[in-house]
Amino acid sequence: MFNKYLIPNAHDLPEGKALNITVEQSTFLVTKQQGQIIAFENLCPHQNKPLNWSSESILDDEGDYLQCHHHGALFSPSDGVCITGPCQGSQLKKATVGMEQGNCYLLFA
Ligand code: FES
Repeated sequence: MFNKYLIPNAHDLPEGKALNITVEQSTFLVTKQQGQIIAFENLCPHQNKPLNWSSESILDDEGDYLQCHHHGALFSPSDGVCITGPCQGSQLKKATVGMEQGNCYLLFA
């Protein structure tokens, strides 16, 4: 049995963009990559802090990578792997995304 939390307006998220959503006391980064909604826990593996604060853009200047605002680590938005920075090679934790009746949800066991 899963608990599910609606990702509001997920289908309206522009390709390659990212947003923050908060579920209870945790924040998640939600992106759309090649039409697929992907979500990660918003915790940088370097120091286990959120990559950003809620109103800041999470993308780098070119919009290609998720960027941690603390020490500049860059993460692939498709698999969460850190490609450069102090935690290079480590990975953001992926969250489970499910679809039901055309809506996207974060799923928790
Ligand atoms: S806390 Fe993210 S790069 Fe240091």
